[in-house]
Amino acid sequence: MFMYEMPTRLFFGKDCLNGAGKDLKKLGQKALIVTGRHSAKINGSQKAVTEALKSAGMTWVLFDQIENNPSIKTVRKAAEFGKAEHVDFVIGIGGGSPMDAAKVIALLCTNDLDDKALFTGPYVRPLPIVTVPTTSGTGSEVTKVGVLTNPAAGTKQSVNTPLIFPVLSYADPSFTESVSTTVTIDTAIDALSHAIEGYMSRKSTPMSDVWAEEAMRFLGPHLTDLEGTIPYAVREDLMYGATAAGIVIAQTGTTLVHGMGYQLTYYKGLSHGRANGLLLPGYMQLMAETMADKVEKVWDILGFSGLEDFTDCLHSLMPERISLTEDEIAAYVRLTLPTGAVASTAYEVTGDVIARLYRSLA
Ligand SMILES: [Fe+2]
Repeated sequence: MFMYEMPTRLFFGKDCLNGAGKDLKKLGQKALIVTGRHSAKINGSQKAVTEALKSAGMTWVLFDQIENNPSIKTVRKAAEFGKAEHVDFVIGIGGGSPMDAAKVIALLCTNDLDDKALFTGPYVRPLPIVTVPTTSGTGSEVTKVGVLTNPAAGTKQSVNTPLIFPVLSYADPSFTESVSTTVTIDTAIDALSHAIEGYMSRKSTPMSDVWAEEAMRFLGPHLTDLEGTIPYAVREDLMYGATAAGIVIAQTGTTLVHGMGYQLTYYKGLSHGRANGLLLPGYMQLMAETMADKVEKVWDILGFSGLEDFTDCLHSLMPERISLTEDEIAAYVRLTLPTGAVASTAYEVTGDVIARLYRSLA
């Protein structure tokens, strides 16, 4: 038995926001647009959204203060603003941070939740959520998860409920044309990690595997050509691959790589994609023990001869190493071990396994 759920209406391709007004209008009259500080203004996405709203005679207010790895404090501030403005729905424009924030803001507009209940529920229906990705990585445009930084827990934590699936998503690869090469690499590796982890997860299903293989088919060929000016056709493949990988993790969630990577982002400031990229080779080595057939399939689809070839590629994309003290490793093991990401990993994950993998990053 398995369940497949993908309630988001996805529009994909250049200029896909043209004519979006008629669908957006069904969500209400006034939107709360949620963005980071700068990029939505530069890459054309915010203008495309406001043009669509304007064309349908709708109004909006803007909250443009979402930081990377958004905090509970910021999403609460935005939700208070949205409530005071009596908005009908929330549009998140950006990378994972603004889209994840938009989901939680929509939830906080209709739910009174303290910092603990925010992550557990129960919840009532949030305001409708619309997503406009401007990077190719997170997959948040089609998932039911919003990741926040929670200082009380000392890590990143997820709000996870089918209620925050976006109702509409507009994925236009041209919004990623101004993304730097470094961020393009980081986000592509995040997307790759979603596809691989979903494929290997204990929660994988025949239908999530179809999307995982599709994502790897589109991401794999570009892992060796992410330098210089990245052509539009490549941007399109990366966004399609990232969205397909998002559909995967909407079914399976993530596994050990993300579970461990969160500590590297929270405590060591590594970008999310880079944290995943450093951990992926060690993870694949573990998976080769329990899922050899699928690991071979991954190499085949991505175009690598095996683990060594894949590791070389990731090292050339992400040459930095990270040395952790034994105290740090012990603390990160304690944070990682009880997570759902570990439970979904198709390997008997012990504290020793996690510690060894952290040590291997030096
Ligand atoms: Fe991720």
